[in-house]
Amino acid sequence: MTDQRPQSGERAISELQISTCRCLAQILEKRRNLDWLRLNRPEWLALPGQRELLYGVLRHYLSQRHRVSGLLAKPLRSKDSIIMYLLIVGAYQLRYAKAPAYAIIDSCVNACAPLSRPWAKGLVNGLLRRLDTETPRPEDAPTQEELSLLASQDHPAWMSNLIQATYPTCAEALMMANNERAPMTLRANATSQTRDQYVARLSEAGILHRTMEQDSAIVLTSPQPAASLPDWREGACAVQDLSAQFAAPKLMEFLRESQNPEVAPVVLDACAAPGGKLFHLYEALCASFATFQLFAIDNVPQRIEDLTSVGERLGHLPDDRVDIRCLDASRLEDGDLPTFDAILLDAPCSGSGTMRRNPDIRLLLTPERLVEHSALQLKLLQQLWQRLRSGGTLLYCTCSMFEEENDQVIQAFSQETSEAQPLSLQLSRGQATAAGWQLLPTDSMTDGFYYAALRKADTA
Ligand SMILES: C[S@@+](CC[C@H](N)C(=O)[O-])C[C@H]1O[C@@H](n2cnc3c(N)ncnc32)[C@H](O)[C@@H]1O
Repeated sequence: MTDQRPQSGERAISELQISTCRCLAQILEKRRNLDWLRLNRPEWLALPGQRELLYGVLRHYLSQRHRVSGLLAKPLRSKDSIIMYLLIVGAYQLRYAKAPAYAIIDSCVNACAPLSRPWAKGLVNGLLRRLDTETPRPEDAPTQEELSLLASQDHPAWMSNLIQATYPTCAEALMMANNERAPMTLRANATSQTRDQYVARLSEAGILHRTMEQDSAIVLTSPQPAASLPDWREGACAVQDLSAQFAAPKLMEFLRESQNPEVAPVVLDACAAPGGKLFHLYEALCASFATFQLFAIDNVPQRIEDLTSVGERLGHLPDDRVDIRCLDASRLEDGDLPTFDAILLDAPCSGSGTMRRNPDIRLLLTPERLVEHSALQLKLLQQLWQRLRSGGTLLYCTCSMFEEENDQVIQAFSQETSEAQPLSLQLSRGQATAAGWQLLPTDSMTDGFYYAALRKADTA
């Protein structure tokens, strides 16, 4: 009977399971994130299916751990945590993967030896077989009740409590949205063609899509590798979530209100890498001003390199009007930078609004990290404010859905800074908050994102 089974298929599943377990060990034990894995262990994410399995397991890690723990007579020793990860991967696959249950279970059993735990074969076999009897098959669509239970189980308790406290009327919907897959959204490069022209290129290539209310945004019906998009290498478009595509037009709107059109604006993107908003801003500046100066800073050299390659692919770099520097924006020295007419501060944050794309965040973020983020965000605001001219505008944003990094930072800063005047800011999606505007992934087209705008009172 075993001869009839797809041995090579099981070997392939085992390989996926092993690399996923190794990724989980890095994330959970070494506190490394998906970016680190992509850069340092690309071979664990290179096979088709590796990324999909890892992302799925990360989304449902906590609920599957709960199920596995319920069947273990006693917890595994911490030195054998890799077997716990294997059981969680198997539990996840039994519920969500298309492969037959026997293949999933056999391949998990076969993975024990390469994971240096041959003694665990019996345990893995027995536990997954028991789990299989009580697991709905992947073809059984989850009920609303299951989705709702999973949504709260798949977030750590502190995070689910914070979401409940912050969004009492939509907490469940928000946590369910965090378990969904995010859409792939493009920004047509406005310096090389109109959006309609790029839309025509997508249609010619048979890529289903729809245009959105922002001038530049196109949402693909199914995500696909960016490099396979029409004219990708020639820089015809960039991948950028819809929520992030509000930054450049908003800053331009404020700049036009406060800027003498005869004078070339001097603009700073203070946390610029990898350049999503920077190059959108560049495209908008090219369209509105005969000349301008655009400064971009980031404190991570590798990320500055990434930003430069993005700019080169888009055809925006090199350009004498763009000045890119590796600097710590929380410790600017006098003379580092000029005074700016407008500043974009896309602050480093928890990324909690992007959990659909970055499912590791729910396992890595802690309440303590949130406090550290808020402190850095306030410091960045304080430093950058000194570089803003009187009458200039600072647009603050984060991809966070927590007030601790959003309204609370803006309110703390405004309280200590008498010349900071809040500007009214309204977007076509999302909702007003006490000090700004919040987008949430309950709108399936957007990540969670926050904006607030401040004008420096003109004291002249
Ligand atoms: C949210 S990301 C920026 C994304 C970028 N604006 C975009 O649209 O592609 C935050 C960036 O801030 C940078 N950063 C963190 N701390 C910084 C600091 N003290 N000074 C300058 N940049 C900093 C990080 O390296 C990261 O690239």
